[in-house]
Amino acid sequence: MALQKMRDIKPVYLAASVGIFLTFVFVTLISTHHSVHIKSSIRDHLRNINIPLGPSSSPSIYSSRVASISFEGALRTLYAPLLASIDSPNFVDPTDGQEYHLPDGEPAWRKPLGKELCIVDIDTRPLNESNQIMSEEFNWQNIEGVSVGMLNHYLYALIHGYDYKFIHTSQWFNNSRDDVWTKIPALRETLQDYRFVVMIDADAVFRNLHLPYEWLLNRWDITEDTSLAMPLDPEWYEDSHTPLGYTKNKYGDLNPNAGFVTAQNLPRTFEILDAWISCPDNEERYPGCDHFRKGWPAEQGAFGEHIRYEFNKTTDFKAFSCTDGNGFPSQNSECKGIFVRHFTTGKGELKAAVGDTLLHTLFARTHGDIMRRWGDVVIERNSTEGLDEAYL
Ligand SMILES: *[C@@H]1O[C@H](CO)[C@@H](O)[C@H](O)[C@H]1NC(C)=O
Ligand SMILES: *[C@@H]1O[C@H](CO)[C@@H](O)[C@H](O)[C@H]1NC(C)=O
Ligand SMILES: *[C@@H]1O[C@H](CO)[C@@H](O)[C@H](O)[C@H]1NC(C)=O
Ligand SMILES: *[C@@H]1O[C@H](CO)[C@@H](O)[C@H](O)[C@H]1NC(C)=O
Repeated sequence: MALQKMRDIKPVYLAASVGIFLTFVFVTLISTHHSVHIKSSIRDHLRNINIPLGPSSSPSIYSSRVASISFEGALRTLYAPLLASIDSPNFVDPTDGQEYHLPDGEPAWRKPLGKELCIVDIDTRPLNESNQIMSEEFNWQNIEGVSVGMLNHYLYALIHGYDYKFIHTSQWFNNSRDDVWTKIPALRETLQDYRFVVMIDADAVFRNLHLPYEWLLNRWDITEDTSLAMPLDPEWYEDSHTPLGYTKNKYGDLNPNAGFVTAQNLPRTFEILDAWISCPDNEERYPGCDHFRKGWPAEQGAFGEHIRYEFNKTTDFKAFSCTDGNGFPSQNSECKGIFVRHFTTGKGELKAAVGDTLLHTLFARTHGDIMRRWGDVVIERNSTEGLDEAYL
């Protein structure tokens, strides 16, 4: 049957089909060759700028020596000589030489927490569009918005051996609260798996990549018994020294900033978080909290106006200084963001700040290497000597 049909096919069609098939094979070969060519040119390019590509790059003495180092391993090796010690009594800011101290007394933390500490970014957006962090492409020139802050958080976690998660939440189940509220149940769930969870807004930056978080726990007096800690919000316009006003609650107390929360896995912490989550739906216990479902200050307002007054043991909540963990220098407030810089009202400055954290440390090592190899690198040359014999 099939043979019969074959015979019926006119030779002209047959020739055309064979032609199309050969063209297809040829084009496929060309394009395969082309993509191999592109890949190898990227490899060459990366090799030229000294980024090892691992075992699949063509063998050379250089690549086989570095192939076994993971990115994390390479990074930790790179930063090891720069790391500040967890319980050092002081820390010098590399940008301006300012010295900062731990409080008097025994520091609570002396050993690295490693994977017992997790840094989390939480967002209802998938952040997978081009120019965002979860896109397959990457281009530093084009990447924008909160994605940039997340790169800083991930890098910081890797350098110190902490865990990192990006938690992509869906919206509040019946859309009865702002997206920002989804952070609190997500924090609660994540905390079950760690000793500490640091929940940080993606427009906030760890300024000193080489300063361990345990040092900051010591500085902010977050001890083994502390449930939650947050920096305060800014209080003043710096130039006129008049109050901002909107950062205070209805009792006239300054709100803590819920964009940067350190939570410790203690039974009491879960009680506080449960109360916080329930606040807008519990008018009896928290009269007026319903008001914080939507619109800033949302979850921050619920905590600042209700929860912290109910959970008022000194171990329940620690508010630390705004300038340590909130604000940024050009904000015109008293908060300079010394350790964590938070670009709440200055998103345009985020990217440069993230770049700076890397450059301060990576170029410090680069500069250190130049100094170490000074005799090899620097050549003193007398431009007069020998000139007459050779050229004049
Ligand atoms: C981004 O993620 C969402 C779901 O999380 C998906 O629906 C969408 O197709 C993704 N977009 C791209 C460009 O990958
Ligand atoms: C959403 O759910 C909560 C809790 O069950 C309820 O109090 C509230 O009325 C609901 N809101 C809407 C808009 O359905
Ligand atoms: C602490 O909170 C309790 C209620 O949870 C309250 O009775 C008590 O007065 C509060 N203490 C202070 C000092 O505010
Ligand atoms: C350079 O060499 C010339 C000729 O030997 C000598 O006169 C001069 O002092 C040298 N200059 C310096 C800066 O060493």
